[in-house]
Amino acid sequence: MIVAIDGPAGAGKSTVSRRLAARLGLALVDTGALYRCVALAALESGVGWDDDAALAELLPRLAIGFGWEGGEPKVYLDGRDVSAAIRSPQISQGASAVSARPVVRDGLLGLQRRLGRAAVGGAVLEGRDIGTVVFPDAEAKFFLTAEPRVRAERRFLELSAKGVPTSLAQVLEDQERRDRDDSSRAVAPLAQAPDAELVESTHLGLDEVVEQMVQSLRRRGLWA
Ligand code: DC
Repeated sequence: MIVAIDGPAGAGKSTVSRRLAARLGLALVDTGALYRCVALAALESGVGWDDDAALAELLPRLAIGFGWEGGEPKVYLDGRDVSAAIRSPQISQGASAVSARPVVRDGLLGLQRRLGRAAVGGAVLEGRDIGTVVFPDAEAKFFLTAEPRVRAERRFLELSAKGVPTSLAQVLEDQERRDRDDSSRAVAPLAQAPDAELVESTHLGLDEVVEQMVQSLRRRGLWA
């Protein structure tokens, strides 16, 4: 079973996907982490986030891996733990920038499909275009969103907890730019698939969101 969870930044996709995957016993694929790794690798190699030719050369050389350590999901780039490095505000902007380049989207498409299909029993994939492009035939699709202010507050608390110096106003500004860029790009923009169930999490806790999704899967006979 493939469960697609798409939605804008800060809607709670990462936490919800992680909890849902654990509850259902499915693998978890954080596709945003792939774009983040490309942005980080480009930055470290001196490759511009809009340099299609150099990005095309860089992509096949990247070894991106996922794992778990101490109950936490980890992301590895060429064997190095980059889980924290890829979450900085700079790399968030870089990920949004490289994700608009068709060469990067095409380069990551096969990998996302392989990661989803390789998992025994199935996978929860979170991203922006999982239900529309990566797995248009996914058994279950959710579009998770929340009001911009609430999303920014969540992201601000998350960054503050990690000691990243920022302000709510700055987070809101970055988020608005990212939402605009992700939704307006020409290729695979952030969009709700026609057959995706909308989950509005502004007034819901993350556990309630997961419960709503499990109930939905039950109603549709996808989960016992
Ligand atoms: O979910 P995230 O914030 O980690 O995603 C980082 C960036 O990658 C985001 O700005 C949009 C892009 N992205 C995408 O275009 N398609 C995906 N399936 C996942 C992420």
